[in-house]
Amino acid sequence: MILSASTLSPPETSCSSPKNSQRSRIGVFDSGVGGLTVLRELYRRLPAESILYFADTARLPYGTRSASEILQFAREILTWMVNQGVKMVIMACNTCSAIALEAVRREFHIPILGLILPGARAAVEQSQRIGIIATPATATSNAYRCAIREINARAKVWQVSCPEFVPLVEQNCINSAYTYQVAQQYLAPLQRKKIDTLIYGCTHYTLLAPVVRTILPSGVRAINPAQHVVAAAEQELELMGVKNTDSPSPTRFCVSGSAGQFAHLSRQWLGCSPKVEKVCLQAAQKRPCL
Ligand code: DGL
Repeated sequence: MILSASTLSPPETSCSSPKNSQRSRIGVFDSGVGGLTVLRELYRRLPAESILYFADTARLPYGTRSASEILQFAREILTWMVNQGVKMVIMACNTCSAIALEAVRREFHIPILGLILPGARAAVEQSQRIGIIATPATATSNAYRCAIREINARAKVWQVSCPEFVPLVEQNCINSAYTYQVAQQYLAPLQRKKIDTLIYGCTHYTLLAPVVRTILPSGVRAINPAQHVVAAAEQELELMGVKNTDSPSPTRFCVSGSAGQFAHLSRQWLGCSPKVEKVCLQAAQKRPCL
């Protein structure tokens, strides 16, 4: 399985000058607000970069979709992002990274980064007993288990799929008693296994960290793969010579569902209400929008 953090694809072979490539946006996508955890890391680590953020809110959650649907969604989003002129794409979605990354890297001539290998590498660095909370599709794919075992065949890995988490985050029910109860149930099997490390195997789940942290013993190390994929993105930009050094353009936020709802929900994670555009991916591909 090819799960490298950075693709070896050559830089785009368009006529744009290196200066233009530097200024081009990095495309970041997820099914919803989960990818904002990656965006926050980008703001922190690569503040000069301009970002195009896309949330496929009309079709979330991805984690209960079939592998062929997830691959199709990833292809549509990447086609649209390439048409927008991005210089790199970060899949801020573990589900897409687990299911679609390998296939789309062969199809698109642009660097595409996923979360699985950066997250697995960070987890294996210091631990032997690793728990993963992930969407049903990511857990079924075994992508994290395989990536971890490729690095350390002796590491013990337990995965729990948490289908209720994404709807709870998207409905802004982070602090409800019900969410706490659901989190307790999901985490109980991992606690019984005495894990020393937990991977947030879905970007939405990182937004539940305040709840998860009150349940797990304080000694359990939490891995947020968003931090590690952004570190890999920085390396890749440097390698390609397209790291931006000028001031960035404001982030462009696009969604496939309700712009107002996304703006309202994301306000708490961004600290301001973003201007959000609704886009139709099918229109970009000359197919009628439903
Ligand atoms: N946040 C995404 C992930 O990391 C997708 C979650 C979903 O839509 O089910 O997997």
